[in-house]
Amino acid sequence: MFSNQKILVIGGAGFVGSNLCHRLLGENPDQIVVVDNLLSSEAFNLPVSNKIKFIYGSITSDVILNSVGKDFDYVFHLATYHGNQSSITNPLADHENNTFTTLKICEHFKEVTALKKNSILFCWMHCCSENF
Ligand SMILES: NC(=O)c1ccc[n+]([C@@H]2O[C@H](COP(=O)([O-])OP(=O)(O)OC[C@H]3O[C@@H](n4cnc5c(N)ncnc54)[C@H](O)[C@@H]3O)[C@@H](O)[C@H]2O)c1
Repeated sequence: MFSNQKILVIGGAGFVGSNLCHRLLGENPDQIVVVDNLLSSEAFNLPVSNKIKFIYGSITSDVILNSVGKDFDYVFHLATYHGNQSSITNPLADHENNTFTTLKICEHFKEVTALKKNSILFCWMHCCSENF
């Protein structure tokens, strides 16, 4: 399914994201682009491969989002504040990083016809997953 595909993994250095990258590499993708600000992870979680391009930064930044581009077959959005405590202690920051960012990613890719059907996977808002 992912053979020769170009895949974006947002939050790809995290627990789920880095395991996903390991798994995707086994399917011989063309390239995996990872965007992560290492808020709750370490870059060494990522597999070492010339097929992985790591972009350090927050996807909340328009500069980062635009630099990522739109030329992808699949997009996985796994960036989040770690744990769900922040939604209680600081709901505005949590909303800014999680909900608002997810909407921005939808906006960024909404006109992109090259994306495969149902190809943006959100594993988002702490254990609430949806396919679009
Ligand atoms: N871990 C689980 O067992 C589990 C189970 C079900 C669902 N989920 C969901 O999967 C998603 C990922 O969870 P996880 O356990 O991998 O968390 P994690 O904290 O290990 O990974 C999140 C990653 O997102 C990065 N990140 C945070 N904000 C960012 C930003 N603004 N820009 C770029 N990167 C950013 C972090 O640095 C980290 O690498 C969450 O939505 C979580 O609710 C996790």
